[in-house]
Amino acid sequence: MRYDQTEPSDPSLAPGEARCPGPSMQDIMDADGDNPPAAMRIEEFEFLGDEDIDLGRYTDQAFYDAEIERMWSRTWQWACREEHIPEPGQQYVYEVGPYSILLVRDQNMAINAFVNSCPHRAMQFAKAGPVGGRRSAIRCPFHGMSFNLDGSLKEIPCRWDFPHLDESNFALTSVRCESWAGFVFVNLDDDAEPLTDYLEVLPDHFQHWPMDDRYIALHVEKVLPANWKMAMEAFLEAYHVLETHSQAVFTASDANAQYDIFGKNVSRFMHAVGVPSPHLREDVSQEKLFAKLGRNPADLPKGASARATHADLLRKEYGEAFAVDLSNVSTSEMMDSIEYFVFPNTFFFPGINIRLCYRFRPIDVDHCLHEIFLLQPLPASGERPAPAKPVRLEVEDSYTTLDNFPLAEILDQDTENLAMQRAGAKASKKGAQSLGNYQEARIRRMNMTLDEYL
Ligand code: FES
Ligand SMILES: [Fe+2]
Repeated sequence: MRYDQTEPSDPSLAPGEARCPGPSMQDIMDADGDNPPAAMRIEEFEFLGDEDIDLGRYTDQAFYDAEIERMWSRTWQWACREEHIPEPGQQYVYEVGPYSILLVRDQNMAINAFVNSCPHRAMQFAKAGPVGGRRSAIRCPFHGMSFNLDGSLKEIPCRWDFPHLDESNFALTSVRCESWAGFVFVNLDDDAEPLTDYLEVLPDHFQHWPMDDRYIALHVEKVLPANWKMAMEAFLEAYHVLETHSQAVFTASDANAQYDIFGKNVSRFMHAVGVPSPHLREDVSQEKLFAKLGRNPADLPKGASARATHADLLRKEYGEAFAVDLSNVSTSEMMDSIEYFVFPNTFFFPGINIRLCYRFRPIDVDHCLHEIFLLQPLPASGERPAPAKPVRLEVEDSYTTLDNFPLAEILDQDTENLAMQRAGAKASKKGAQSLGNYQEARIRRMNMTLDEYL
């Protein structure tokens, strides 16, 4: 056996200090020897307690209603990319729960956000998603009242019938709207802290990974059969990889993932790909590892490392496919799952092979929408392709129905779990879940932050 994972932790360690006996993520980067960015060398973890977490948080309508009323109305949320509305007059609607927000690019290229509800008789100006076309005004589709791109009143049909209207008081209701790295965020709380403060270490860490230089090459939205937090929590830990995604045991380090908690809003995990799980009992030859990475073992030079060779090939393949120079990108950035979470619902993966963004939004207490965005580096020419339109998958639709979607098998496995976990939560007599101190700490942190709003 390579590493014994069955022994209880050393009793001399304080809670939250025990770690998997395999090589750490930092050890793996040391062995790569090719200078990943400083942010990846930071380790920041704090023990947050080990109390059980009540399952009512995932199943009770009253809890869901409280989240809608007190949390979704007061947090910064990623609404769209700037390139969804690149030209003056373009509009986009972001929705979460009952909230609906219209984002508009004005003549000065600023992005303004308004409550998507007409001050006349409350009609929505547009449905969720990109509105389409360049419009010189925001026009209500019910009676045709129109508003300037700054939200001020433009025109009222049959103006003679509204002598009582105070025009200065008949503007659209503004919503806080700020951008980071091409991501436009909104917050319904007028008194919210600035976005850059809310994002904690994220802007600093991502100086090395300029997300302005990416575009949405693929956008999938899938209905998941569980409460939004339950669905999201499966993406906050790699503890489930061994059992749920057992096919990954040769190529994914799971129990030795690194978990960082940077503050109440931002956390991270990093887990290596091309390094066998510490659970694997036998030694794996480099040839076998290379084959498990989808390569021909005959192509591995004698004595070479499968991970390093695979990363080299990826630099070349993606460099050509994206028309960018990746020669200075570290092995870990090329290969590994580097996942930043921003409360309440968004994940950013700055890696190259795993270049994703996730967003989770509630549909009802038992369902949510999981969006997956493939964030591709822009070609060196600077040409910016239009963001991909979303492909919708309903609860019963498999990810394998998508063409060339590399995560299909993994995500189908996660989806299958969710229906059973939701049912199990409702059947539970214990009524609570118990979390691992280290590997599941991001779940605890997310729930603690949620409680600060409730
Ligand atoms: S509801 Fe908007 S113009 Fe009447
Ligand atoms: Fe998973």
